[in-house]
Amino acid sequence: MSKKKVQKFYLVKGFKDILPEDQPYWEFLRKKCFNVAKSYGYERIDLPILEDSKLFVKGVGNLTDVVSKEMFSFETLGKERVSLRPEGTAGAVRAYIEHGMMNRKKPVKLFYMGPMFRYDKPQAGRYRQFYQFGLEIFAGDEPIIDSQMIYMVYQFFDELKIPIIVKINSIGCPKCREKFLKVLKDYLKKNKSKLCKDCQLRYNKNVLRILDCKEKKCKEIIQESPQILDHLCEDCNKHFVKTLEYLEDSQINYELDPFVVRGLDYYNRTTFEVVPTEEFAGGEISAQGALAGGGRYDYLVKSLGGQNTPAIGVAFGMDRIVNALKKIKDLEIPSINSSDIFVAQLGDKARKKVLALFEKLRRAGFSVSESISKTSLGQQLEEANRLKTKLALIIGEKELLDKTILIRDMESGSQEVVPENKIESVLETRLKSLDINVKKTRIRN
Ligand code: HAM
Repeated sequence: MSKKKVQKFYLVKGFKDILPEDQPYWEFLRKKCFNVAKSYGYERIDLPILEDSKLFVKGVGNLTDVVSKEMFSFETLGKERVSLRPEGTAGAVRAYIEHGMMNRKKPVKLFYMGPMFRYDKPQAGRYRQFYQFGLEIFAGDEPIIDSQMIYMVYQFFDELKIPIIVKINSIGCPKCREKFLKVLKDYLKKNKSKLCKDCQLRYNKNVLRILDCKEKKCKEIIQESPQILDHLCEDCNKHFVKTLEYLEDSQINYELDPFVVRGLDYYNRTTFEVVPTEEFAGGEISAQGALAGGGRYDYLVKSLGGQNTPAIGVAFGMDRIVNALKKIKDLEIPSINSSDIFVAQLGDKARKKVLALFEKLRRAGFSVSESISKTSLGQQLEEANRLKTKLALIIGEKELLDKTILIRDMESGSQEVVPENKIESVLETRLKSLDINVKKTRIRN
């Protein structure tokens, strides 16, 4: 018989699986994200992964790397040109306009969480599918909103114990930026031939992006370049000074960085990026090290067909934050598989009973687990230990006959026999004494 070789399949380049062992980190981070969004009054919005390609061309900018080189775009069977979203802001703005959210109580605060796709060169911390937690505020251009957002971002990392610096800049409004771009072009003209290939193209098409280039030779040239902060118009300057003034008292670790021009075209005025401190990152901080980034985009809603609506937002790179969390030694990540109660059995008859007991307790809202396929009590209790269970319920021949259940405290080893029909109330009392509230999660039939 000829042996046919079976084809094996592997991950597509730049994509990754998030394995069960990493899930506690993700769950921990997701909870923190939901928590911060809720405390600051953001409402959840789930946006589609696929959008009309033109939304990104117009919203993010067709001259940006993200749109010109990194989109996963294709034509559907219905001949629509669509793209996997490379970021969430454009979709959030589309949804804001499409659902008439300008008529809601202001400010409208939205948050989203999910995968984004960029066909970028994969490397450490840079993936082709990555996850973002994003927050957007619509309506309001007061500098206090900028400061509060930056403050919130800082607190978020502080709570996670990730030491960071927030790099802040202002890229002005279209008026002052236009003037600055001329000054910048004049400065770069004499060195144009020394710039990298991409920057030579950027020189004519999107000169501001050169300030963001990570190539060593470009970095050297732009080091001495004119700075946009010296060319802000009066209003933009006032806005920036006020934003910083509010931050001044908050004791957050920020620094001004004239090179934070961001890789997306919709920004104006305040822009910021969060990087881990050099000490924490263990060496030079590269662009791949940015843990979050955002800024103001006062013109995007109008340019995508809505009303004039100043807005500001931020997105956190969740994969990079998880990588950072793994480096923190004294961080306690709760196990997600742990449960309060474990049901164990001895003998086949008891097993049937335990099967029903497990379901009854689960429906009553207890956090309960089992290992029904195992026969040895020792192995079952080992599993109970692994799951960090507080109480084990054991049913054997004797308990079957007496219609009782043995409760074993997994920490002290002490045991108590209770009548079967009292088990729920006894468990509730016992868990309450351990500060565990059962009723909150009770599943109603
Ligand atoms: P962004 O700076 O392009 O901004 O992305 C935000 C964060 O997503 C980055 O700081 C980084 O942590 C993470 N990230 C980006 N690309 C990758 C990648 N290839 N692999 C892993 N992580 C990545 C935005 O996307 C804007 N929409 C943020 C925003 C919201 N601005 C206003 N509102």
